[in-house]
Amino acid sequence: MNAKSKPICVLGIETSCDETGIAIYHEEQGLIANQLHSQIDLHAIHGGVVPELASRDHIRKILPLTEQALVEANKAWEDLTHIAYTAGPGLVGALLVGASVGQSLAMSLGIPAIPVHHMEAHLLAPLLSESQPPFPFLGLLVSGGHTLLVKVDAIGSYKILGESCDDAVGEAFDKTAKLLGLVYPGGPAIAKLAEQGNPTAYDFPRPMMNRPGLDFSFSGLKTFVLNTYEDSDKSDQTKADIAASFQEAVVDTLAKKCLRAVKEYDYKALVIAGGVSANKSLREKLYDLGKVRGLEILFPEFRLCTDNGAMIAFTGYKKLENAIDPIGPIAVKARWPMSD
Ligand code: KG4
Ligand code: ZN
Repeated sequence: MNAKSKPICVLGIETSCDETGIAIYHEEQGLIANQLHSQIDLHAIHGGVVPELASRDHIRKILPLTEQALVEANKAWEDLTHIAYTAGPGLVGALLVGASVGQSLAMSLGIPAIPVHHMEAHLLAPLLSESQPPFPFLGLLVSGGHTLLVKVDAIGSYKILGESCDDAVGEAFDKTAKLLGLVYPGGPAIAKLAEQGNPTAYDFPRPMMNRPGLDFSFSGLKTFVLNTYEDSDKSDQTKADIAASFQEAVVDTLAKKCLRAVKEYDYKALVIAGGVSANKSLREKLYDLGKVRGLEILFPEFRLCTDNGAMIAFTGYKKLENAIDPIGPIAVKARWPMSD
């Protein structure tokens, strides 16, 4: 089969954590399929992701979802020209499912497989609806495993300007939610409870704001919240006030660090991505910052904030479009710095 004679049509496979995401990106038609199976119900009773259960569930869902994606896109196996899969970072067993299926399908169809970095894919998700990406831009990546400020000059050109020294933002949301007895995943649960609370009820610390630089730290904030909660009357209103004040502290810290980076590097555009970019309070704060500073602000569509196959298929396509060589037939990497 000659992949070059037909339009590029990339199947994207995401299995790095607790979502099985399968999507198809076509060079002429754009995103033509986006199938997602969330494992939230499977892990919720355990209070967090159980890696072995995650791997087994990916195995169950990956092929049926791929077939559904082909039906949604109205394409046949032979129409696919490339298979992009998440190669890391993530849970190693879960990654191996997507990598083995991706590479096997590619081999049987006689087409190339493209290993994709999960955080690069998050970063590019907001560009899916942009014909002209606003290069150079500042990227704020906020997920369950990472908090990064990235200088983005072009597709494939990333420099880390700042990162969390301890917990990632999403992790801080998840752990704080657990302390307050909320369900997994904690980010949406805190955001929902915060709607009933007063964000100025507690003056929680804005970590590392009085130090120079663009790094973050969120583990101390979580401990501060725990102590506040333990010393409180633990009423429903108090819980809501704590959730709202915690969210406010996180959002304020992220916005202030973005502003610092924008000033230092004179950026004209800020692109926010990763699961926490679904947070409405963060969106409002950064849109306000954009208005004040004359800064273009880009968020992904809500359905593309958390893990999905669309961002993997799109990143695979962008690599091809920009003639960026895939890094060879790697299997998976549980840890994989984005600057590599
Ligand atoms: O990007 P993602 O789906 O997975 C990783 O790559 O880690 O991010 C998941 C994280 C979780 O920590 C989850 O609690 C958080 O994103 N999250 C949110 C919201 N929706 C998801 N955090 C705050 N507010 C939300 N609305
Ligand atoms: Zn993710």
